[in-house]
Amino acid sequence: MKKVAVVTGSAKGLGKAIAFSLVEDGFTVVIHFRKSKSDAEKILNLVRKKSPKSIIAFGDLTDEKQVRSMFLQVYKRFGKVDILVNNVGNFLYKEFSKTTNSEFRDIFESNLYSAFLCSRAVVLNMRKQKSGHIINIGSVGAETMTVTEKSTPYFMAKNALYSLTKIMAREEARYGIHVNMISPASLETDIFKAEDFPMGRSANYSDVVKVLKFLTSNDAYYINGANIEVAGGFIPGM
Ligand SMILES: NC(=O)c1ccc[n+]([C@@H]2O[C@H](COP(=O)([O-])OP(=O)(O)OC[C@H]3O[C@@H](n4cnc5c(N)ncnc54)[C@H](OP(=O)(O)O)[C@@H]3O)[C@@H](O)[C@H]2O)c1
Repeated sequence: MKKVAVVTGSAKGLGKAIAFSLVEDGFTVVIHFRKSKSDAEKILNLVRKKSPKSIIAFGDLTDEKQVRSMFLQVYKRFGKVDILVNNVGNFLYKEFSKTTNSEFRDIFESNLYSAFLCSRAVVLNMRKQKSGHIINIGSVGAETMTVTEKSTPYFMAKNALYSLTKIMAREEARYGIHVNMISPASLETDIFKAEDFPMGRSANYSDVVKVLKFLTSNDAYYINGANIEVAGGFIPGM
């Protein structure tokens, strides 16, 4: 049976690029969506040409019940998850004093709780398999306690996601599970100009995908609990 990967938030953006690349590498992929159902269906049509068993799966990943039900469906169908990519995460550019409770909660929960809930939903089965990769998508500056103006909850959540990555790796390494984080700077979709970046351009999805391929390969066997920045020298706030 082919290896199975779940990529959260893969109906668009970085998640979509990761899902396509995993399909190219022979994986059966679970394309997860919350609101972007028609995008997910379009992707599935393309993906199935190469990976006929791939599926789409719905869930608000800040809601534990929905997370459970999504992974129940995945395990019923495939019996395993080899790679979980915790890609979901919203961004908010707003002054702290104007941020509402629900905005703060959404940024925190979509970036941190979703990764916690999804990881917890796969980890016991990965232990039984004695293998599995969890990749958390962070953001540049996550491991240096960066907090920039107008994006405080986002950076707080990504800082905490880095702690979660380290703790999960420490607890799960003995079971053959790898937990790592990839932290991009602004990606292709973002509003910055090319000259804002030390290397003259923002990160491409493929820059991130290549690191994910490495981290989930045997060559990266002894890398666990690491955060790899894909930021071309960019430092938030500088
Ligand atoms: N874009 C950048 O410049 C950049 C830079 C650094 C790091 N990152 C990180 O890279 C990752 C992907 O970023 P992106 O810009 O490609 O994402 P995006 O296009 O903004 O998409 C966000 C994704 O999260 C999903 N989502 C949001 N809230 C959700 C919830 N409660 N439950 C389930 N799904 C939810 C959305 O799904 P639906 O549309 O289906 O609701 C969507 O697929 C994020 O973790 C982000 O922090 C991005």
